[in-house]
Amino acid sequence: MPSILITGAGRGIGLALAQQYCEAGWQVIACHRSRSPALSALGERGVSLHSLDVVDDAQIGELTASLAGKPLDVLFNNAGVYGPDADAFGELDAAGLLATLHVNTVAPLLLAQALLPNLLAGSRKVIATLSSRMGSIADNGSGGHYPYRASKAGLNAALKSLAIDLGPRGFTVLVLHPGWVRTDMGGPHGQLSVDESAAGLRRLVDRASQRDNGKFLDVDGHELPW
Ligand SMILES: NC(=O)c1ccc[n+]([C@@H]2O[C@H](COP(=O)([O-])OP(=O)(O)OC[C@H]3O[C@@H](n4cnc5c(N)ncnc54)[C@H](OP(=O)(O)O)[C@@H]3O)[C@@H](O)[C@H]2O)c1
Repeated sequence: MPSILITGAGRGIGLALAQQYCEAGWQVIACHRSRSPALSALGERGVSLHSLDVVDDAQIGELTASLAGKPLDVLFNNAGVYGPDADAFGELDAAGLLATLHVNTVAPLLLAQALLPNLLAGSRKVIATLSSRMGSIADNGSGGHYPYRASKAGLNAALKSLAIDLGPRGFTVLVLHPGWVRTDMGGPHGQLSVDESAAGLRRLVDRASQRDNGKFLDVDGHELPW
């Protein structure tokens, strides 16, 4: 039975991923900052639930200690924030920018580092991370959104290095855009439901091979410009 650890699994795309992988018979480790009733219901169906605020080093330490010696096939970095409402040039502040960078850029990298022994012991060796098309510098034609865009562009840069560093050890590092999805972050007008997005993301993870290492892909598998 393949295993996957998903961050931010309490709601949104992360919850849909946890539900679908559970349905598919995977061993799911669902990490959550807040625990929703829907996630608690998954706990009753055998999904392993862990409290994890991804910016809390002590909680990352507790998680890795609890998983010591256990192989992990897939790390799915899903947790993310849009950042402060005050995100236009002229109203930015360091605290809002840095908090966004911590969750979106720093945490996925540190989590991959912390879970490397587990991933090395797994057979699939996939690190999938939700970035965003808004992190594409080449695709930025409308400006604004400073904290979010900068955090996802920084994430992309870090994951490209990770792909180059871990590729020779058998890893596939995927940088993924989930589509515009109807969640608290994406709002009610998004093009995809969480289930449609999660199904597409699962297809990408399932068919991931080392040829995909270091690619920036949308939910349909098309390559995006950096
Ligand atoms: N929706 C879209 O259209 C869209 C488009 C492009 C990219 N994305 C990316 O897709 C990912 C999921 O987005 P979503 O639309 O599902 O967002 P969402 O509905 O706002 O859910 C965000 C999830 O991230 C968790 N989270 C935030 N900060 C966290 C922290 N410090 N520690 C642990 N968990 C944390 C939240 O937990 P709490 O419930 O505890 O807050 C929640 O489970 C994000 O990385 C986002 O940037 C989304």
